Amino acid sequence: MKIACIGTGFVGVVTSAIFASHGHEVVGLDIDENKVKSLSNGEVPFFEPGLSELLKKTLADGHLTFTNSYKKAISNAEIIFIMVGTPSAADGQADLKYVFAAAESMAPYLKKEAVVVVKSTVPPGTSKEVAKIIKQKTKTSFTTASVPEFLREGSAVEDTLHPSRVVIGTTDKKTGEKLTQLHRPLSDKIIIMKPESAQMAKYASNTYLATRITFINQIADLCEKNGADVEEVVAGIGEDPRIGTHYWYPGFGYGGSCFPKDVSELAAYSRAVGESNNLMNKVHELNLARTPYLMEKMGQKIGGWKDKQVAVLGLSFKPNTDDTREAPSTAIIKYLQQQKANIFGFDPRAKWSGETTNFSQKKSLEEAVAHADVIIAVIEWPEIISFDFSKTKLNKPQFFIDGRNQFDPATIKNWNYIYLSIGRG
Ligand code: UGA
Repeated sequence: MKIACIGTGFVGVVTSAIFASHGHEVVGLDIDENKVKSLSNGEVPFFEPGLSELLKKTLADGHLTFTNSYKKAISNAEIIFIMVGTPSAADGQADLKYVFAAAESMAPYLKKEAVVVVKSTVPPGTSKEVAKIIKQKTKTSFTTASVPEFLREGSAVEDTLHPSRVVIGTTDKKTGEKLTQLHRPLSDKIIIMKPESAQMAKYASNTYLATRITFINQIADLCEKNGADVEEVVAGIGEDPRIGTHYWYPGFGYGGSCFPKDVSELAAYSRAVGESNNLMNKVHELNLARTPYLMEKMGQKIGGWKDKQVAVLGLSFKPNTDDTREAPSTAIIKYLQQQKANIFGFDPRAKWSGETTNFSQKKSLEEAVAHADVIIAVIEWPEIISFDFSKTKLNKPQFFIDGRNQFDPATIKNWNYIYLSIGRG
């Protein structure tokens, strides 16, 4: 099929490359000329396992091209994906200006019976707005649909090749069939529903997962009050098939470009439609308070942060990405700077781009922990959890904060660290 992908951010590049790798003729469009240039040269502007290879391969075999011309991208396209950013507006709701601008710009070039698919995370009702905007600019017949994205950073290629499900929001039979045909090689779990349901499903999915994390963080805090071990509690609840053992890692709170934004957007949407007393408000608030709360509690245990040498290991918001947006490390470093600690950061991929007072990023984990009074293992990068901390133990009392409960407490204690964790009694 002939496909146009508008927006070459994270989702746009991954989606374009995957469809191209399945033999479709894909044109990626971005208004940023520099992005078009570097993508056309096979350069991915962020780290995502497997993506660079896939991009180079699909460019080389001619299935994928990039342009900044709407005319070029849209004129032949049977299916057009809108995958532009939807940042939060001042009132907390999704700002749809880029989605609407894309709709307006593509309209004059639409081919007869083209399908315009909104893949960006948008509130219910957006597909109708998109259709209205396009209709003002063209007489050509077209349909709209909503196909939300569920891929995760760090495993985006794998998630797109083997999605747990494909949700197609459309009320038009032919559109549903066309999109099913496109997605069938990727998944046999294709669910067709109303566009509004598809859009709600996206927000509901992310908000549920964020709520689950907030819930286990609170259970971990309670475990600390009574000597219970949250990891044992997870084992005790997880065998119930309604609950499951996965996605139950307590820590410094959820981060990234999606959960914080989507939870607060759904909260703002709820308020806007008259449901002010909503769970999402509280989840967002608890997550924002999570790092300062933990850091204060840990500070009491270590005798205060002032003048301590602190190694912060893991600056990205999760392993296998260099993305630091809303990463727990950003709140941790900010807190430590206010407390006048000396901070040494390390990450296998991410670069610290925040305030550098009392902060320096080290090239290796060894250097970051070289003088540490306190080591904070923030996230579970393999390079961090497989590191042998016995060889860097100094001859002074040192605290080891296991921010993800990834280490064996007995081993760390045997190496003479004072072990602190999240809810392990
Ligand atoms: C999330 C969703 O998982 C995807 O399905 C969705 O498509 C994506 O948002 C999006 O809307 O684009 P992502 O942000 O890449 O994906 O990362 P996750 O692996 O879900 O992690 C999100 C945050 O939750 C991270 O900070 C992670 O460390 C944290 N987390 C995750 C926990 O604190 N505990 C857990 O048990 C799991």
